[in-house]
Amino acid sequence: MTVHVIYGSDSGRTRAAAGKIAAKLDAKIINISDATAADFEGCDLLVLGSPTYGEGDLQADWESGVDVLGEADLSGKRVALFGLGDQSTYPDSFADAMGTLYDAVVAKGAEVVGFTDTKGYEFEGSTAVRDGQFVGLVLDQDNQAGKSEKRIAAWTSQIL
Ligand SMILES: Cc1cc2nc3c(=O)[nH]c(=O)nc-3n(C[C@H](O)[C@H](O)[C@H](O)COP(=O)(O)O)c2cc1C
Repeated sequence: MTVHVIYGSDSGRTRAAAGKIAAKLDAKIINISDATAADFEGCDLLVLGSPTYGEGDLQADWESGVDVLGEADLSGKRVALFGLGDQSTYPDSFADAMGTLYDAVVAKGAEVVGFTDTKGYEFEGSTAVRDGQFVGLVLDQDNQAGKSEKRIAAWTSQIL
């Protein structure tokens, strides 16, 4: 099975998480600033990750990256999402970028796998929550770094 992990990162936390996730999935890792439509298409499982910036925005490279995503044919493709955020400082837009990626891939016909429980996080609002669950894996390196290894291990086995 071919797995591609495509990520964007400003200060390196999402890059580090992408590396750990890619190691567990034996995946090729690609920075969204270098990604082409073929990188989205040429795999059996596509894993996309972004931190949230501004007030609920995508990471800067992802802002143009979603246009590349929009050129790709994702119909029927299994896609898993992960997002980094800070629930203490930004409780009203916690990991919102993952919700934006979710809407973008669903619009392209993808099948999103790897929803997770919101239990263990404290926040007020997030567009990454649908029907009571996160649409992917949420990591909070600012407040809950100690929980991330376990979360990554559980989630990568879930999506495999
Ligand atoms: C200016 C700024 C705005 C942020 N806005 C949000 C936000 O709206 N929601 C959120 O969950 N996290 C927010 N964060 C936290 C980052 O998403 C978090 O620190 C993340 O781990 C950074 O990932 P990176 O190191 O890959 O860039 C913000 C951080 C900064 C510096």
